[in-house]
Amino acid sequence: MSTPEGKPTGNPTGKSTGKFVSTHFDEITRAERYFFMTSTIVPRPISIVGTIDEQGRDNLAPFSYFNAISSDPPALMFSMGKKKNRQTGEVTHKDTLANILKNKEFVVHIAQAAQVEIVDHSGEEHAYGVSEREKLGLTLVPSRWIKVPRVSEFAVAYECVLEQTVELGANTMVIGRVLGAHIREDIKIKGEWRADFLKLDPLARLGREYGAIRIVSDSFRANQ
Ligand SMILES: Cc1cc2nc3c(=O)[nH]c(=O)nc-3n(C[C@H](O)[C@H](O)[C@H](O)COP(=O)(O)O)c2cc1C
Repeated sequence: MSTPEGKPTGNPTGKSTGKFVSTHFDEITRAERYFFMTSTIVPRPISIVGTIDEQGRDNLAPFSYFNAISSDPPALMFSMGKKKNRQTGEVTHKDTLANILKNKEFVVHIAQAAQVEIVDHSGEEHAYGVSEREKLGLTLVPSRWIKVPRVSEFAVAYECVLEQTVELGANTMVIGRVLGAHIREDIKIKGEWRADFLKLDPLARLGREYGAIRIVSDSFRANQ
């Protein structure tokens, strides 16, 4: 919630107010855990991950269990569950992971708030080998350091190689080492390797909703 002037309405004092209810996570269902975590650990950035299969067919999919984890070495992570075939019930890796395990390379794109529909549609499930990118009419351009091409409609793209996968129950976390990145010129701050946040206007995943991010302070004192 915010006031009409854009001021946050939460409790700024850090003092405890109000009554809490609590649950051990063994006492709620898997779906409840999912909805609790994804509606409270917000906003999550969205990675739109591009990969290719052994025949060079491209694949695109969004993942919001995603973040930067290190800048030395430059690394990021995203995590995904399995996919279940509706006809046969067979459980397999998602196409993105199947491709990454084969080729060890991928591109992570960052989408803008105005691209919410493209991002949402890129998450639709298709048979292996079907290009979400082609269905959405997006443009592939060659990458600089890896074989997997990037999608030029997205303002930022990271070229990554697989560093490590971490298995966690039915999920796999992919850690990618960033080789290099591309940023559209109009979004980059001149003379710096930095994005202008307001121009980037990144799309975020909330609970079920998507959001854009509002700046509440433009200075960050502690580490400067
Ligand atoms: C905005 C958005 C975020 C998503 N985040 C995740 C995620 O973090 N992990 C996951 O397993 N699936 C996530 N999904 C679902 C996958 O994108 C979906 O299963 C997709 O079909 C996987 O494609 P693939 O089989 O081509 O890899 C998300 C979908 C959307 C629309």
